[in-house]
Amino acid sequence: MPSNVLENIISLCKRRGFIFQSSEIYGGLSNTWDYGPFGVELKNNVKSAWWKANVWQRSDTFGMDAAILMHPAVWKASGHLDNFFDLKSDCKSCHKRFKTQDLKDKDRCPECAGELTSARPFNLMFKTYQGPLEDEANVVYLRPETAQGMFVNFANILDSRHPKLPFGLAQIGKSFRNEITPGNFTFRTREFEQMEIEYFVRPEDSDRAFEEWLALRFDWYLKLGIKKENIRMRPHSPDELAHYAKSCTDIEYNFPFGWSELEGVANRTDYDLKQHSQASGRDLMYFDDVRKERFFPYIIEPSAGVDRSVLAFLVDAYCQEGVKNETRVVLKLHKDLAPVKVAVLPLLRNRPQLVEMARCLALDLKKSFVTLYDDTASIGKLYRRQDEIGTIYCVTVDVQSMEDKQVTVRDRDTMQQVRIPVEGVERYLREKLT
Ligand code: GAP
Repeated sequence: MPSNVLENIISLCKRRGFIFQSSEIYGGLSNTWDYGPFGVELKNNVKSAWWKANVWQRSDTFGMDAAILMHPAVWKASGHLDNFFDLKSDCKSCHKRFKTQDLKDKDRCPECAGELTSARPFNLMFKTYQGPLEDEANVVYLRPETAQGMFVNFANILDSRHPKLPFGLAQIGKSFRNEITPGNFTFRTREFEQMEIEYFVRPEDSDRAFEEWLALRFDWYLKLGIKKENIRMRPHSPDELAHYAKSCTDIEYNFPFGWSELEGVANRTDYDLKQHSQASGRDLMYFDDVRKERFFPYIIEPSAGVDRSVLAFLVDAYCQEGVKNETRVVLKLHKDLAPVKVAVLPLLRNRPQLVEMARCLALDLKKSFVTLYDDTASIGKLYRRQDEIGTIYCVTVDVQSMEDKQVTVRDRDTMQQVRIPVEGVERYLREKLT
């Protein structure tokens, strides 16, 4: 994939209102991004597609929304206070900081060749204080993963919903990590969103469940339009595995900066429930009333990044096509993900009757689809603008429309146009979009 694709996408995201640099008017907060009008629609569509596939369309999962702030004892029991470190090395000359793991030469700065400090551990959790007193007794952390909110609610789910194994919890929410080397646009940031499933199974079923979830999650990206050649699975080698994991496979995407992790699917064993059981004193075992057995279930965890998924969908959908000696830039996003489904465009904006007809149609379509009305440029420019947003259909109202009550519907991908009666537009689009 050409490396300038990322620059093109960053520029399109700003130009069209998808993603902006955070606090830009103050010079920007580096590696922090705000989602604008179309960005938030795209992101919400990604989250809805995930929720639909993993909660609504299954009968063995439950949704959750745990708080970001948790009791600090959670992070002791989970191992984050003791193990959630990266090694960092600082340059003694230019004072830049590096993740030691990324350095080829551990002694010399890759930017100015200055001497590097020895590697020092750096805990990635954001620390803050609950309440007005900034003392050790009031320390709390911004969660670095949503997962722990589900583990500590395991007993509440058993007691309130009485599920039988296997069953899962699913959650979407913000996580925070004080990354040493964030970068590559929204790929690695300090504030990000995760979509995580914790699927509880009998230990002997965990290998099979792991394979099933891996296949399901891989297919989810393909169904939403990611090209086969741009996605792959990469099993972790034993020395890469987290301390709690029996196995883990990353689903990777071929980003413009190389193959990188989109999602990890891990077999976390019974580590988490055992740890929280021991540390809290609450019994987090499962009782199988048929076999009369008590045990700690194993957990299969498919853990995806919302922002990374959005970035992968943007990269995959980005196209430049030659059309009549011009370059057309178009986001060929899947219909479920496209931020805008329909744009209504009057061909002439100085004809009140025509504008009125287009506005009425747009208002009507807004009841069913995310619809835009735009009359601020010539039709050619309006089409290009909608192509860059990824709008699936453009409906044009022209002079003839006032006579024959017909409009032109243009398809984003093929650019083919059909003329249909205005009263049939909603039904036509509904058939195409659902
Ligand atoms: N509960 C397991 C867990 O958090 P992880 O591999 O550290 O596993 C899961 O994170 C996913 O969260 C990653 O695959 C990635 O998509 C996303 N993610 C992790 N750190 C991120 C960061 N700094 N910026 C953006 N996304 C991140």
